[in-house]
Amino acid sequence: MTTVDLTHAPYLDASLTAEERVADLLGRMTLPEKVGQMLQLDAREDLDEIVHARHAGSILHTSPEKVMQAAELTARTRLRIPLLVAEDCIHGHSFWRGATIFPTQLGMAATWDPDLVEQVARVTAAEVAATGIHWTFSPVLCIARDLRWGRVNETFGEDPFLIGELASAMVRGYQGGGLDDPDAILATAKHFAGYSETQGGRDASEADISRRKLRSWFLPPFERVAREGCRTFMLGYQTTDGVPITVNDWLLSDVLRGEWGYTGTLITDWDNIGRMVWEQKVQPDYTHAAAAAVKAGNDMVMTTPRFFEGALDAVERGMLDEADIDRAVARILRLKFRFGLFENPRHPDPERIGRVIGSPEHTELNLEVARRSLVLLRNDGTLPLASGRTTDESGRALSGSGPRRIAVVGPLADDAQTQLGDWAGSSGQVDWLSDGHPREQIVTVLDGLRALVPEDVVVEHTDGASILTLAEDPLGPLFPDGQPRPPIVVASEPDAAQIAAAVDAARRSDVVVAVVGDRIELVGEGRSTATLELIGGQRALLDALAETGTPLVVVLLASKPLVLPESVRDASLVWAANPGMQGGRAVAELLWGLVEPVGRLPISFARHVGQQPTYYNQIRGQHGDRYADLTQSPAYAFGEGLSYTTVEYDEAEVLTPVVSADDEVRARIRVHNTGQRPVEELVQVYVRDSVTSVSWADKELKAYRRVALEPGASTIVEVSVPAADCTIVDAAGNRIVEPGAFELLIGPSSRDADLHAVAFEIV
Ligand code: NOJ
Repeated sequence: MTTVDLTHAPYLDASLTAEERVADLLGRMTLPEKVGQMLQLDAREDLDEIVHARHAGSILHTSPEKVMQAAELTARTRLRIPLLVAEDCIHGHSFWRGATIFPTQLGMAATWDPDLVEQVARVTAAEVAATGIHWTFSPVLCIARDLRWGRVNETFGEDPFLIGELASAMVRGYQGGGLDDPDAILATAKHFAGYSETQGGRDASEADISRRKLRSWFLPPFERVAREGCRTFMLGYQTTDGVPITVNDWLLSDVLRGEWGYTGTLITDWDNIGRMVWEQKVQPDYTHAAAAAVKAGNDMVMTTPRFFEGALDAVERGMLDEADIDRAVARILRLKFRFGLFENPRHPDPERIGRVIGSPEHTELNLEVARRSLVLLRNDGTLPLASGRTTDESGRALSGSGPRRIAVVGPLADDAQTQLGDWAGSSGQVDWLSDGHPREQIVTVLDGLRALVPEDVVVEHTDGASILTLAEDPLGPLFPDGQPRPPIVVASEPDAAQIAAAVDAARRSDVVVAVVGDRIELVGEGRSTATLELIGGQRALLDALAETGTPLVVVLLASKPLVLPESVRDASLVWAANPGMQGGRAVAELLWGLVEPVGRLPISFARHVGQQPTYYNQIRGQHGDRYADLTQSPAYAFGEGLSYTTVEYDEAEVLTPVVSADDEVRARIRVHNTGQRPVEELVQVYVRDSVTSVSWADKELKAYRRVALEPGASTIVEVSVPAADCTIVDAAGNRIVEPGAFELLIGPSSRDADLHAVAFEIV
């Protein structure tokens, strides 16, 4: 490396505009430095090689120690261009020991609460920014439609409107007051677009999806955050119509940069460019792959080190102009200048780290999100376990009614790291947190109940079942690109002794709380499941517990909707997703009745894996409405979730029976709390377009409102939807309002039986 005198270099002069600085710096860079600037490399590899040999512009998966090491190496480069440090901080600062880990994105979605999600992202940004990381690969805007897919937990569920609301909030939270805000980090909308539309739930398979279908449901959430200023977009792995997204000119140039006017930064997903060569086999070598990716408008290339040689070779062979590379590099440098990284590279700040990481305020917010993410799906009257709603100053419930003895059973009742879900601590993506997050920071369901119930109530715990063991994949431990191949899951057999112990505990108890679900080995990238049933000894355990006749509450601690055995068909059921560090406390409070259940499903639950897909907004038209051997209706539908009270809706009335396309459709309905406990009712509003020029979803969520009602109280709720939102996408791919007859459907879930319809007309 040659040292150069940079004292008067214009690009280091903060008084110049970003454009002037970019022009000056680009003029000084060699071609290898430019190509390197487009690379984001894995900091777990040799940092010296990354920074000095490949001139990388960005790194990811950087352990706390390596953040400073990388900065020191960068300071010794010829042009001292600061690194962008990126990480998957997707439900909290995932891989920073002791950071606040929130419920997974799917859990957060069950709150249906954009304000809360924005606060989560704000808090996450503050923790992340303090540690020298600038960029998070979050949020996920994929639509979850096949429950077998391993990444359902990372999504906001199945509905494009809800996804748009929550993703927009999350981006706002991360990006805070803008690039000058010391607590802001760059957000990433991912995975653009259609990645979740898998074949058979298999990860990153060809997405068989038309442009019209993309425009109808998959693109709208992305369009929203693109227009609202989400700084970066990540491109999915998959091919669509034969073309990998990385080189999909229509999607990247015509739609994203063209129609939506997006000026932010594009990053590939992990080795997308290499995958075109070795996995999808649509490029003969790295030279062709690099040329195609640059021409398609990619800016940053994640973890394809050989892009470096490929791009240099492509320029040398005249397959790529240096000007094409300049355009991408200019976009990266512009971001670095605007972010102020040349003046303040935003290194880790020990004082801030001490103040914000896992702070009591963040833990309090985490508990609130966890509480509001829990969805009560069934209640045979066992819940709430107690009637008192007060605690002493240590947070323990005061004695009163309630069980005297509780059996807390199940392999997930006290499994702290599993409770956190994917992308957290020991979930496998990084190598510096093999023991996960500090145990003492995580409240399991067992911890939660023990700490919460009155001191004279006995809480007994036993696992009752094992879930799985692992075996090496017969194809070997590594994929062709050298990445680890996940081991194979072998379901554990039911164990008679474990079950007997659980049954004994159940028999001696007044109530059983069974905590079952999935584990990280069944969740995540490349870990889709063929079944949705509980794995291992868990089904036999539930069967045996149900037999005892002791009242049973099933807490489903599962990354995604699963199918429960028939034996617990009538038992009370709470879905907790992966509820984060405070999840066990939240579950305990809900079971004991200290808080009301307010979560609602952001995704439908199947009765059987063969029912896939079960999302509510399916296209009209099929022969019949069931399988010969099974109903088609989901076990629990999008929007469902019970309260500890009963709520009735009546007197639905449209206030604007005829509207023009720029009016608002308004309606009202009476909502009555007919039970004994307070409620926060989530009033959902769907639109049905009676006749459409092309086939369309039978109904779509367009709005929702939360209404708090004391026992016995009722209120008139007014709802409104802009007529301009009552759209379809026509055969030519244009989003339009087709005048004619419509219905507004108002009620507590997406099920027809729950909805009150009023008619209106758009003229
Ligand atoms: C691959 C995943 O698909 C993506 O979501 C993630 O952000 C990157 N790896 C980086 O870890």
